[in-house]
Amino acid sequence: MTTGAGGASPTRSMSDTYFHDMYAGSDDPWGFAERFYERRKYALTLASLSAEHYPHVFEPGCSIGVLSDQLARRSDRLLCTDLSPRAVELATRRLAHHGDRVRVQIGDLLTDWPDEEFDLIVLSEVLYYLDPDALDGLLERLPASLSSGGEMIAVHWRHEVAEYPQSGDDVHDRLRHGPLHHAGGYRDADLRLDVFTARAGPSVAQRENLVP
Ligand SMILES: C[S@@+](CC[C@H](N)C(=O)[O-])C[C@H]1O[C@@H](n2cnc3c(N)ncnc32)[C@H](O)[C@@H]1O
Repeated sequence: MTTGAGGASPTRSMSDTYFHDMYAGSDDPWGFAERFYERRKYALTLASLSAEHYPHVFEPGCSIGVLSDQLARRSDRLLCTDLSPRAVELATRRLAHHGDRVRVQIGDLLTDWPDEEFDLIVLSEVLYYLDPDALDGLLERLPASLSSGGEMIAVHWRHEVAEYPQSGDDVHDRLRHGPLHHAGGYRDADLRLDVFTARAGPSVAQRENLVP
């Protein structure tokens, strides 16, 4: 893994303690394994991906690995990271049946971004913990982390959370002005989801010769 963005150290105003405390209070603080809201969010996320299968996937902020488990079924290799050691321990347990195709590691997405190329990067409910300048720095780094046909999907809760430095809408507005090509999206009262690609390319229907 790389350390830092290769320039000034990125900043993060939310402390690790916030997340450590969440996991100290519960093994599933957001109810990822229980709530219909989360099952629906994951179904929307997975349905929005433009490929059935991806060789190499990266999911930073994987939490306890509920989405990761479904991503593992759509990929040859999956790297999951989270800054919380407890989350990584729980995700490691949940994902063990996938064998060594799935790696789960402790890592901060700002300072431990992997020096690898991915076909899909999944940023689900993790970017609004970053300060706006740190998010901009991360966005600049994304194209170099994606393969030529690579894709990035971002999904965030839209309701206000006082402790978060940015709202979900702030995040997605910034992403829309970033260096990646916007391929599509979905929004409702609760969540916003956007899919980006490394460059403009054929749609799913065009790839399957459904349109001239
Ligand atoms: C709301 S959960 C999202 C979990 C998962 N991505 C999903 O959508 O089901 C946010 C997770 O991101 C982790 N996290 C927050 N900031 C992070 C950072 N800078 N680097 C890595 N993980 C981070 C937290 O520890 C927490 O487990």
